[in-house]
Amino acid sequence: MSDRKAPGKKLLKALAGEKTDGIPVWLMRQAGRYLPEYRKVRAEAGSFLDLCYTPDFAEEVTLQPIRRFGFDAAILFSDILVVPDALGQQVAFKEGEGPVLEPITDLAGLAKLSSPDVVKGRLAPVYETVARLSRSLPSETTLIGFAGAPWTVATYMVGGRGSPDQAAAKAWAYRAPDEFQTLIDLLVEATVEHLSAQVEAGAEVLQVFDTWAGSLPELSFERFALQPMKAIREKLKARFPDVPVIAFPRGAGGMAERYFRETGVTGLSLDTGVSPAWARDNLQGQGCLQGNLDPLLLVAGGPEMRRQALHILETLGQGPFIFNLGHGIVPQTPPEHVAELVTLVQEWRP
Ligand code: CP3
Repeated sequence: MSDRKAPGKKLLKALAGEKTDGIPVWLMRQAGRYLPEYRKVRAEAGSFLDLCYTPDFAEEVTLQPIRRFGFDAAILFSDILVVPDALGQQVAFKEGEGPVLEPITDLAGLAKLSSPDVVKGRLAPVYETVARLSRSLPSETTLIGFAGAPWTVATYMVGGRGSPDQAAAKAWAYRAPDEFQTLIDLLVEATVEHLSAQVEAGAEVLQVFDTWAGSLPELSFERFALQPMKAIREKLKARFPDVPVIAFPRGAGGMAERYFRETGVTGLSLDTGVSPAWARDNLQGQGCLQGNLDPLLLVAGGPEMRRQALHILETLGQGPFIFNLGHGIVPQTPPEHVAELVTLVQEWRP
């Protein structure tokens, strides 16, 4: 494990429930197409996956937003779909279309996948990127590793692409829940291997993205979102008791409180729909919160962005709290608005 875990890092302190001098800030998808320097490296790399699998490029694009904005954390540049790719379900990222995979919809499809222990070998370049970042980041910057949650990754594996309603994965989960559970169980194991390898390479915090958690009805949410996150959290805790885990169950709504308590994650990342006052009163006592400015306010900028960022800070800023967006930065975001937001958060005091 890395020796970068300096006790003074603001983001680690917030996750440990300690008071911080100022609120730590980073933004989901802080590396990406809204930055001209990213588009340049992206063009050089060729395909998106080549970018993810080439440590020179992946390290560089992870560092770009840190240099420009001085965020408190860097998130490894990679994607949640490198896990299915490593398991043998090839992923391609098509221009203007997003990810495309050969759909898996039955047990015969599942049988073609490799076992979770191949992940560490096949994703070696990703861990090499983590190791390099662990050496090249400024000493005050926390390094975040990540993975997709089993349900969200499964929606792409079963649907073969992104979809607004996750209909293909739901069809399988509702028609044959025990069969679908086999896929979820495989992804729990693969995710634990993938996250463990990132910690061994130097990641100090882990974030698990469950982008599509909110589309599940209560009983399926319990089984396919909450329980898998709890299993991942417990397995990681047994291996790395001190490494904080943040979960992002986007759209969890009325299930957020139970999810936070029962999964035992260290931090909960809130989507834009969650009321900050409700979160303060019902969630913040259980641990560190993160969130939740609308990414489209960051596109608009101006007084409305500042007003709504201040509303979040004034409501949740007594901590423990990490400022972030309610979902990822979108490509049309002006970088100047990001700079303005970061300054506003960094200068804010309760
Ligand atoms: O946050 C970061 O800066 C780190 C890198 C990161 C990426 N994807 C890079 C990326 C992270 C943490 C992700 C997570 C991810 N990937 C999620 C969960 C979080 C979320 O946003 O909901 C999901 C659902 C994916 C799957 C994915 N990857 C999709 C649907 C797409 C296509 C849509 C799009 O934005 O293009 C991607 C591609 C992708 N992943 C890009 C980036 C920078 C754009 C690819 C490009 O440069 O061409």
